[in-house]
Amino acid sequence: MTIAPHGGTLIDRVLSPAEAGDLLRRSRELPRLMLNNREASDLQMIATGGFSPLTGFMGKADFESVVRSSHLANGLPWTIPVTLAVDRHRADELKEGAEAALFNGDHELVGAFKLTEKFTCDRAETAQSVYRTTDKAHPGVAYVYAQEDVLLGGSIVAVPAQKPGSHAALHRTPAQTRAVFEERKWRTVVGFQTRNPIHRAHEYIMKCALELVDGLMVHPLVGETKAGDIDADVRIRCYEALLRDYYPKDRTLLSLFPAFMRYAGPREAIFHALIRKNYGCTHFIVGRDHAGVGNYYGSYDAQHIFREFDAAALGIQPMFFEHSFWCKKCAGMASTKTCPHSPEHHVALSGTRVRELLAAGQRPPIEFSRPEVADILIEASRAAS
Ligand code: ADX
Repeated sequence: MTIAPHGGTLIDRVLSPAEAGDLLRRSRELPRLMLNNREASDLQMIATGGFSPLTGFMGKADFESVVRSSHLANGLPWTIPVTLAVDRHRADELKEGAEAALFNGDHELVGAFKLTEKFTCDRAETAQSVYRTTDKAHPGVAYVYAQEDVLLGGSIVAVPAQKPGSHAALHRTPAQTRAVFEERKWRTVVGFQTRNPIHRAHEYIMKCALELVDGLMVHPLVGETKAGDIDADVRIRCYEALLRDYYPKDRTLLSLFPAFMRYAGPREAIFHALIRKNYGCTHFIVGRDHAGVGNYYGSYDAQHIFREFDAAALGIQPMFFEHSFWCKKCAGMASTKTCPHSPEHHVALSGTRVRELLAAGQRPPIEFSRPEVADILIEASRAAS
């Protein structure tokens, strides 16, 4: 038996091929809504149950409750608004109760939407509450301000997603990861979120966690990330190489997570944990500056926020890790929690320094990154220049 999804039921709003065919025929008569890339990603997350208990884009009560108190209107913890926005003109054309056909940026039919209500939000309040800043240089805040004026609440159904060819086998829905955990008889599973290549610190905290549970799901986010983050295809090659050579096959599952990054730091840590519960994880790793960007959050804010929630209502157990590194004196990986030596003994490289080394065709020290990973990053850096 895998862990119960958030709210108790794993949502499934993916149409069967016959239903999708029917929608395609009917879509010619329906009003059309064009989704941006994030909305299209959210549509799939809702439809496949990753965002359970959501069955659609948020209405006003849920939206305001989430923004103001980090809970849905029904009292369940939820920290990030999931919204569909249109301009005023388009909003005026749509009547409450109407159905609309949903299209992505490539003009492909991706689903249908039933409108319940239209509303507007206070952007400054939303940004400040969710992101703890109104600075438009923050990528999550920039999205709030760039969004169209009117939010549409209502339920969705989705056409089955076309899985990207080369990594199709790594894309698993929550029902599919749950089935793998059942088959492998993992009663406890820790989920690991990342938007980066896996370096030694990531590997260390994952393996510390795995010492305590039955299985590990490496669950890299492959939805859109901000400019400057490493391309998902390159990262996937790194993950495959690292897992092949350094992880136990029977206790590790690599699966791709198609959501978009929000960079909401603490609130996103809760969001990430709840979603991984939907994928069947019982535990979730939160390290240093989880889902952070710039200097908007303290290093451990994403851990402290868990204290503000009822642990039973979250249902998934966070596993917290402090800043980790190789310590020359310890001659091993350690963290600020376990290492008594001062920082000059620690191998710590800034992101900028790592990029410089890779661009110059040099591997970062083996204490920082495995050579197999470094070589893939060097090759990608060469190809990009
Ligand atoms: S993110 O999506 O959370 O932004 P990132 O790839 O930067 O992804 O980090 C993945 C996970 O590893 C997060 O839980 C983060 O807190 C943790 N982490 C990253 N680097 C370290 C480190 N040096 N020490 C401890 N935890 C870390």
